Amino acid sequence: MNEIDALLTEERKFPPPPKFVANAVVNDPAIYDEAERDPEAYWAREAARLEWIQPWTQVLDWTPPHFKWFVGGKLNAAANCVDRHALGPRRDKPALIWEGEPGDKRTITYGELYSEVTRFANALKSLGVTKGDRVAVYLPLIPEAAIAMLACARIGAIHSVVFGGFSPDSLRDRIIDAEARVLITADGGYRRGGVVALKANADKALAETPSIEHVVVVQRNHGTSSEQISCSMQQPRDLWWHELMQKAPEGGDPVPMDAEDILYILYTSGTTGNPKGVVHTTGGYMTAVTSTTRNVFDLREDDVFWCTADVGWVTGHSYLVYGPLSNGATCVMYEGAPDWPDKDRFWALIAKHKITILYTAPTAIRAFMKWGDQYPARHDLSSLRLLGSVGEPINPEAWIWYSRHIGHDRCPIVDTWWQTETGSIVISPLPGITSTKPGSATFPLPGCSADLLDSNGRSIPVGGGLLALTRPIPSMLRTVWGDDERYRKTYFSKWPGRPDLYFPGDGAKRDEEGFYWILGRVDDVLNVAGHRIGTMEVESALVEHPAVAEAAVVGKAHELKGQALAAFVTVRASHQSSPELATELKQFVADKIGAIARPDDIIFAADLPKTRSGKIMRRLLRDIAEGRALGDTTTLADAAVVEGLKQQYESLEP
Ligand code: WT7
Repeated sequence: MNEIDALLTEERKFPPPPKFVANAVVNDPAIYDEAERDPEAYWAREAARLEWIQPWTQVLDWTPPHFKWFVGGKLNAAANCVDRHALGPRRDKPALIWEGEPGDKRTITYGELYSEVTRFANALKSLGVTKGDRVAVYLPLIPEAAIAMLACARIGAIHSVVFGGFSPDSLRDRIIDAEARVLITADGGYRRGGVVALKANADKALAETPSIEHVVVVQRNHGTSSEQISCSMQQPRDLWWHELMQKAPEGGDPVPMDAEDILYILYTSGTTGNPKGVVHTTGGYMTAVTSTTRNVFDLREDDVFWCTADVGWVTGHSYLVYGPLSNGATCVMYEGAPDWPDKDRFWALIAKHKITILYTAPTAIRAFMKWGDQYPARHDLSSLRLLGSVGEPINPEAWIWYSRHIGHDRCPIVDTWWQTETGSIVISPLPGITSTKPGSATFPLPGCSADLLDSNGRSIPVGGGLLALTRPIPSMLRTVWGDDERYRKTYFSKWPGRPDLYFPGDGAKRDEEGFYWILGRVDDVLNVAGHRIGTMEVESALVEHPAVAEAAVVGKAHELKGQALAAFVTVRASHQSSPELATELKQFVADKIGAIARPDDIIFAADLPKTRSGKIMRRLLRDIAEGRALGDTTTLADAAVVEGLKQQYESLEP
């Protein structure tokens, strides 16, 4: 039995532009066969892009579900990201080009980054922080966030970055679970013109976190003419970042870390809402993020790379900090919202900094589509040469819009599938080799192996099923912090007796040419009259309609069909919702993918409920569609959105 029906067919296919291929960092398709023949040799070659203090003696030690990479090797992640560039050829090359939301700017060269990171590492040491200690980081997207992470890595302390948009309760739970000794925060940051009072939030959390000995506070506007954000300091626990830095000396040796020593913990919310501390180690993680940043983004010396993610997410860890800096790249970092002061802020940034590579999320792309084509059209985007997407399936129409209005049909798009748990990109095109199909993440990267399985673990060559990773990837999580049993249960027990198979929780399909299409979380799969339908295909059909910017589809109990579909739809600024449009959309879906997927209800929404990282929360939409009380809403970005939808749904004609 197939686990998931595949309904949509997408015929468009885009080979990489010949000019791009000619200059691409990776353009020989033989890389796939070579890696397939000997994946360990492949990863060993990629690991050699790093500077090791001591070579490894064994590439992979695999005792399912556990594994170790580069056994016996020693290295330091921060030295790889900073020292070898600063003390080598890139001393005066910009490492970070930062812009705050209000418009303040800083450019930090590799030489300056070395000074900042080593001084802060020495400051942490002066507070008694040593190898293996946990340090919580709760900051806006300012350079100090990257500096703090790298300073921890330099001395072997384990950082746990908590997204600055999280509440005091979330911060408290994460500090308690990791037993962090030090918290690094700021008086505040800026978001949509307002101040986010981080220190005040932290103070609430700190009332219940006895493990914290010191709080280091960045003064967000220190040394500028801008107004200081008010916050209270508690003596002797709280210390100003700039005062510590004044006293801290530059330099000092990085701590040699074992390849399997922990680099960081990053909490990700499980389906139960109870966050898991995903554990990443040093050697394998650094190998895979360094390799994929270079190969997937075709990174070259003169690129200006902008990953729009916050350091609070894994994307910010891997592709804003560790991956690009390890490659010696110039990274752009922007603190604020994409629609501040106007809906063209991203495009203004690209034109101003001559950004060449843009890596962002479908949720942002769909917002840009909703706002209208005129915003990117105002700016010169000709510096761009490659576009990336991550976080959710990208609907084919959003892909086409991105390609046309941002890439001007010139830039290849890399749709990159991966997870907090995988640490680095797993399924993605290589832009100098792979032909792309809108909505498909294409193929597993060299050195990665995936399969599509049914619930008995049989491979499904063509069609829909459960995605599995069949070999450990160097950057994959090693355990859940303090709960190895949860690691085993969550990721390695989908197929009984097969602890070698990693289950990411996603459904996918494979087409005749072997392209992978992620269909959404298995927990969200719809079941209509015995057909199991992934959310992605119905949503993509809706987004194909010119009036629709974004859609979320959920199942609600139905006497005859098992489930009926309810579709929540946001309309583009250029169109208006109406009962006629609702009827038209139902028919549109039926025509596109079949009567089986015709939604019973269309609910027009100004906005959809999303997590703070921008993922649609279908679980809450199911609660609404089935008339239940709303489940856990603590991870919502904006609780008002879902309350409004609930009222609207309840007032619909039965
Ligand atoms: C889940 C992981 C990866 C960093 C950001 C999110 C979904 C991610 C894609 C993609 C389809 C995608 C999956 C995955 N996802 N990228 N390109 N196409 N789905 O990390 O919060 O750990 O989420 O995001 O469902 O399992 P995360």
